[in-house]
Amino acid sequence: MTRLSTHDGAFAGLQPQAPDALLSLIGLYRADARADKIDLGVGVYRDAEGHTPVLAAVKAAEAILLRDQQSKSYLGPEGDLGFLDRLKPIVFGPRDAVDIFGVQTPGGTGALRLASELIAAARPGARIFMGTPTWPNHPQIFEISGLEIVSYRYFDSQTQAVRFDEMMSALATARPGDAILLQACCHNPTGADLDAGQWGQIADLIAARGLTPLIDLAYQGLGLGLESDAAGMRRVLDAAPDALLAYSCDKNFGLYRERVGALFAVSDSSARLELAASNIKALARANWSMPPDHGGAVVRIVLEDDALTRMWRDELETMRSRIVEVRKALAAAEPRLSALAQQHGMFARLPLNPAQVAQMRDRHAVYMAGSGRINLAGLTPATVPLFATAYAACLQEEFA
Ligand code: LMR
Repeated sequence: MTRLSTHDGAFAGLQPQAPDALLSLIGLYRADARADKIDLGVGVYRDAEGHTPVLAAVKAAEAILLRDQQSKSYLGPEGDLGFLDRLKPIVFGPRDAVDIFGVQTPGGTGALRLASELIAAARPGARIFMGTPTWPNHPQIFEISGLEIVSYRYFDSQTQAVRFDEMMSALATARPGDAILLQACCHNPTGADLDAGQWGQIADLIAARGLTPLIDLAYQGLGLGLESDAAGMRRVLDAAPDALLAYSCDKNFGLYRERVGALFAVSDSSARLELAASNIKALARANWSMPPDHGGAVVRIVLEDDALTRMWRDELETMRSRIVEVRKALAAAEPRLSALAQQHGMFARLPLNPAQVAQMRDRHAVYMAGSGRINLAGLTPATVPLFATAYAACLQEEFA
């Protein structure tokens, strides 16, 4: 360990950290002067004109909020209880609401952070099973909480298929009390989701081995639809005595920078649920004390009003179907992208190495994550052919 002198200053002992690779793409793209550049980096929905509009239902709810809100006083560690109550049937379906406890969090990331701290506090030495590839922020959230991460291969980018056998073999080594992170739908970064039969097998295994599922549901409604996107994970919730679910409204309400999320705990025991609730509230207090209000209040207002809820559902469906159309168009434009038509949500992970990703950017002005992940919502009918041509050229050059 380096010894610091009295004059060094408190920060001298820190190790420099690399900037977040995905977020750095925002600046790189902005600085590129080429008129035909294509941004497939950060996972933000864009319409066919390339815009990320504020949803009309959100605008209407914000107008109501501005008119009616009488106070900005604190609401408490759980945040907006109406927001949580209105979200529950959408997330959990007809499940009995008394066995669910929720807190509002700053985005899905805040929910994952609380969940990881709760898992660590509940069972020191607990491990969390996580498929790779996954959202790059997942491992660092769990590492900071001191959980041991057990990785297994979830996806093969060459075949574009889930390695379900490898997943099941890895999970068969989990010990009672270990946690398992599962993305409910629109898998980030691959778009390759589990099918109903696979969810059933995982639910059985979780029940048999006494594992704790942590569901990450960040894209509900952008895959197959609100209900279908939640169906598989609900089987897992039914199979586990205790479970956690990290939710994000940032994507399905287009509220990205408002950071609107929730952590839910589900249990078949009211005593254990109370324990979880008191710990989650204490952890939230120590992390951010009280969550930001605006986005949660907007979602609540939308969901309290039948007409606004219909408007939101229609807008969500428009976003979903546009992404499906982009998937179909890519598959039609380039046979080597045909698997994308069977996948769901904003993302696909292409079998490109870092040099090819750099080539896509330098020669073709296509910006994507270094892993080969693309945000399909960044493509428009006009840019799909350009992208397909650039992709084909990039594969061609690899073999030239
Ligand atoms: C993404 O994966 O692009 C989004 O979830 C944004 C983020 O925070 O990484």
